[in-house]
Amino acid sequence: MIIGVPAEIKDSERRVGMTPTGVDELVARGHRVLIQSGAGAGSGFSDDDYRAAGAEIVATAVEVWNAAELLVKVKEPIAAEYGYLRADLTLFTYLHLAADPALTQALVDAGTTAIAYETVQLPDRSLPLLAPMSEIAGRLSVQVGAEHLLGPAGGRGILLGGVPGTPRGRVVVIGGGVAGTHAAQMAVGLGAHVTIVDVSIPRLRVLDEQFGGRVDTRVSSRRTISDLVADADLVVGSVLIPGAAAPKLVTLDMVERMRPGSVLVDIAVDQGGCFEGTHATTHSAPTYRVHDAIYYAVANMPGAVPLTSTLALTNATLRYTIALADLGVDEALAADPSLAAGLSIRGGEVIDTRILG
Ligand SMILES: NC(=O)c1ccc[n+]([C@@H]2O[C@H](COP(=O)([O-])OP(=O)(O)OC[C@H]3O[C@@H](n4cnc5c(N)ncnc54)[C@H](O)[C@@H]3O)[C@@H](O)[C@H]2O)c1
Repeated sequence: MIIGVPAEIKDSERRVGMTPTGVDELVARGHRVLIQSGAGAGSGFSDDDYRAAGAEIVATAVEVWNAAELLVKVKEPIAAEYGYLRADLTLFTYLHLAADPALTQALVDAGTTAIAYETVQLPDRSLPLLAPMSEIAGRLSVQVGAEHLLGPAGGRGILLGGVPGTPRGRVVVIGGGVAGTHAAQMAVGLGAHVTIVDVSIPRLRVLDEQFGGRVDTRVSSRRTISDLVADADLVVGSVLIPGAAAPKLVTLDMVERMRPGSVLVDIAVDQGGCFEGTHATTHSAPTYRVHDAIYYAVANMPGAVPLTSTLALTNATLRYTIALADLGVDEALAADPSLAAGLSIRGGEVIDTRILG
């Protein structure tokens, strides 16, 4: 099969859909891989790295799109790319079509087969191609939180781990799923006092065991969150109710009672945020003040670490790319219900009707 990997052209996107390791695997299996020149630069891979792995480097996006049978990307095509869509092309990338009727229509009109990373789903209902980005956002949340707690950054001026004879910083993680667990790991690693809040008692049991008693766990309620937030230095919001807007679990009243210079990182901002007062920010201006607290609400946190993000993403996608290339699209979808769950659009028809709302 001919697999194409174009450079990402969405604003500030530095990830790439395949690493030289992926190219090497596919070429060894007899496939051709076309990489657009410069596509890997933002993630630390040069054209020569790809060439050494067996890729063919082509100069322009149009050459990649036109030659490819399977096109592997990171972000959804933007309007400038709609003209490349065609019926005998399979697109494998993040799509988020429910939020993008124009792209949905373009894919239907072109008859393209579109498989969305974010809806590939394992039998235990987990989302293997979304999880790596939640892991990164979770770990990053404590790193950026610690940085914004520094005095020169306008924060409280507290070291999360403290030193002997001083209090540890208090970190409250609301939502103990993938992102929340990784946030808690980082906070525990820095020596902070960590409390994880979740609605699911079975989930809290797992966390209690996983952390061997090094975190406190609490069942989510308004009162509990209010008490914990009042005493927190850093609050991480990482709740998810699949398919719904995030609930506003931290209210402005609660934020007003926090100590000046406390930090709140709302990872769930891509679902509307779980703090009152959250609005999406960017890496160039990531924070703003609410009362005397600092809000960090970057909607695309993994974009800050494109090298790690590209590796984490492609580690997870490669086995599916290999299946699509080796078996062909029909057989790969028939053989693996997890991959088939990602099939969004085919032959001018919307297959995943959740897209239509
Ligand atoms: N900002 C970013 O760059 C970025 C990157 C990756 C993921 N995310 C977002 O992070 C959020 C979390 O993702 P995830 O993969 O960790 O989800 P997840 O499903 O693994 O975890 C969500 C957790 O929230 C809990 N929860 C639900 N309602 C709650 C409530 N009322 N109180 C307390 N806990 C509650 C659930 O029980 C679950 O354990 C999502 O909104 C996701 O889109 C954002």
